[in-house]
Amino acid sequence: MNMYEIIQKKRDGGRLSAGEIDYFISGIVAGSIPDYQASALLMAIYFQKMDYEETLQLTKAMRDSGDIADLSEIPGIKVDKHSTGGVGDKTTMIIAPMAAAAGIPVAKMSGRALGFTGGTIDKLEAIPGFRTRLAMSEFKHLVVSHGIAVMGQTADVAKADKIIYALRDVTATVENMSLIASSIMSKKLASGSDAILLDVKCGSGAFMKNEEQAEELAEMLVRIGKDAGRRTAAVISDMEQPLGNAVGNALEVSEAIATLKGEGPKDITELSVYLAGMMIWLGGKADSGEEGIRIAEESIDSGAALDKFRQFVEGQGGEAGVITDASLMGTAEASLAVKAETDGYVTSLSAEKIGMASLYSGAGRTVKDSPVDLNAGVLLECKTGDKVSRGSTLATVFGEKTKLAAAAAEVKKAYRIGRDITAGRSIIRKTVGF
Ligand code: URA
Repeated sequence: MNMYEIIQKKRDGGRLSAGEIDYFISGIVAGSIPDYQASALLMAIYFQKMDYEETLQLTKAMRDSGDIADLSEIPGIKVDKHSTGGVGDKTTMIIAPMAAAAGIPVAKMSGRALGFTGGTIDKLEAIPGFRTRLAMSEFKHLVVSHGIAVMGQTADVAKADKIIYALRDVTATVENMSLIASSIMSKKLASGSDAILLDVKCGSGAFMKNEEQAEELAEMLVRIGKDAGRRTAAVISDMEQPLGNAVGNALEVSEAIATLKGEGPKDITELSVYLAGMMIWLGGKADSGEEGIRIAEESIDSGAALDKFRQFVEGQGGEAGVITDASLMGTAEASLAVKAETDGYVTSLSAEKIGMASLYSGAGRTVKDSPVDLNAGVLLECKTGDKVSRGSTLATVFGEKTKLAAAAAEVKKAYRIGRDITAGRSIIRKTVGF
């Protein structure tokens, strides 16, 4: 067996055997396959696709390419949640405490921002003192004692994914269902939870631009999860416009806290209650999704979810005073309001462009590991369907003074204002695997 033959087989539309896939993945991790051959195979997969069996085998090989977390000492059904990435998506900070308040142990590994999409780890680091680098023993201890912990994904989980993702990123081979599904599920399966809830985003601010693609991905993810022995379900949710009103790290922490207090924007509240409800059901604390949703709502109304958030922050060394005083997270150097130039209604608001504006403000990163301005970002005042009048504020950008003009120009491009009122799309579009 050699890489030349494997590339040739896939190039000509052949089906890779389990042995060939394992050979590729182990060679990638061992460093014995040069980047040009790995990239050639990825491009062949991109064009010729993989069938389900190949995709499952690729996922398993990638899962086994690094450490596999053993969470068996934590009692209960551990439920993980993964979002395929979007703009303003702060749901982890909301639903993890909601599910934990309902008795679901949440042991979650999350990622950082890259490009126009945000990452939970950067957001949590906006809370002074909050530690996202935890030893596995401390991570497990926190889940046992508080029912919740969130840490950064370690470099040793699904090692092959890191190498392959970096190559896909620079060879225009990201957008392939099998490569996306295996990348996501290899990490989720290696993270050790018993059940997995996937939030597949659909719309301009997501990988999956339309509902058909989102559904295809959701079905593939759920099938892989189930075949790998995990209780798995997916929700397809809208990412045509940003989720909530806040985009940017500290801004999103504040909005997550407001949502836990029952004062959050409608879309983020609706999605959070739904996702937390599904986690509660997947974790066996409710007999149906509906009952899970009721329990999730109750965790907000009773203050139990907010209490759990406090314990979570304190457990990881963070300043829980941010719950009542957001200024403890600092303030941006400057801000700039973006005003409407005409009267009318917001007919669309591009999540992708708002994500880019947030990136330009300094809240995100274009290259891995570059620093982020935790107080930068965009606060939206108007979303799709809202009435605006000339001179009224559409949104405000925050960050270093020199970055604001570019960010504001991008915000302006994100808004379409017209004469006719457009109904906003419903936030939850479909469920798969329930
Ligand atoms: N998220 C991942 O982790 N991998 C992909 O390929 C796409 C989204």
